[in-house]
Amino acid sequence: MQLLTSLYPTTGDVEVEEAYAYPPAGNTVRANMVCTLDGAASGGDGLSGSVSGAADKRVFGVLRQLSDVVLVGAGTARAEGYRPAKLPIAVVSGRLDLDLTAPLYAAAEHRTLVITCASAPADTLERARAVADVLVCGDARVDVAEAVAALHARGLRNVLCEGGPTLLRQLAAAGVLDELCLTISPFLAGGGAGRILAGDPLDVPLATRLTHLLADDDWLFARYAIGRP
Ligand SMILES: NC(=O)c1ccc[n+]([C@@H]2O[C@H](COP(=O)([O-])OP(=O)(O)OC[C@H]3O[C@@H](n4cnc5c(N)ncnc54)[C@H](OP(=O)(O)O)[C@@H]3O)[C@@H](O)[C@H]2O)c1
Repeated sequence: MQLLTSLYPTTGDVEVEEAYAYPPAGNTVRANMVCTLDGAASGGDGLSGSVSGAADKRVFGVLRQLSDVVLVGAGTARAEGYRPAKLPIAVVSGRLDLDLTAPLYAAAEHRTLVITCASAPADTLERARAVADVLVCGDARVDVAEAVAALHARGLRNVLCEGGPTLLRQLAAAGVLDELCLTISPFLAGGGAGRILAGDPLDVPLATRLTHLLADDDWLFARYAIGRP
């Protein structure tokens, strides 16, 4: 059992599993991201691990335990060296520039899903099909709303998006993001690090509502409900 200190809406110790429980029915798309006090989504090495910490990693683990599938962009899977997990991982990639011999594909207990589009290179698509469940969602690019619907259609109700910023922006823009779990890490990173959403500004900034705020020493764990446009 993992405990954190609740600051809002209650005060006192809370079980992390309970605090992050998904709604008992229906489908949910939740994102889990970390950023520093100055808004950096990664440290000087370009990775999120350098702005993360022990408590953040514990929450990250619990969020996975509670979810049915991890949804991640190929950029993050490549940069962070994603490995097989106790739940299926769905990788979004248009170019299919994936190391299909890596354990994420070749040795996953739960077969990895590759979500791609019709314009993906045909030869790589065939090789991907040999080691992963391939979903083709969209023509020139992956249509993320279609991708989310395809995951739900497979019975994967609780989708945990672990980024990265390119994918997260699209989920937000497509109106399919229900929740953002944001770790506010007590660092100032400086430099030109990206933010947790990348790409063009959203037409209208998405409104959110704070549903809880937890703490572990200097670390804050906020959970926001996203207003559907
Ligand atoms: N702070 C945090 O919580 C956090 C979380 C995750 C990642 N990160 C950091 O973010 C960095 C990676 O950022 P990123 O924005 O490049 O990563 P990303 O969103 O994980 O990946 C971008 C890639 O995903 C694929 N993709 C995304 N949307 C697509 C679409 N609609 N159609 C087709 N392909 C699509 C493309 O892959 P192909 O090129 O294969 O087509 C694209 O290059 C890493 O350095 C990582 O450390 C930070």
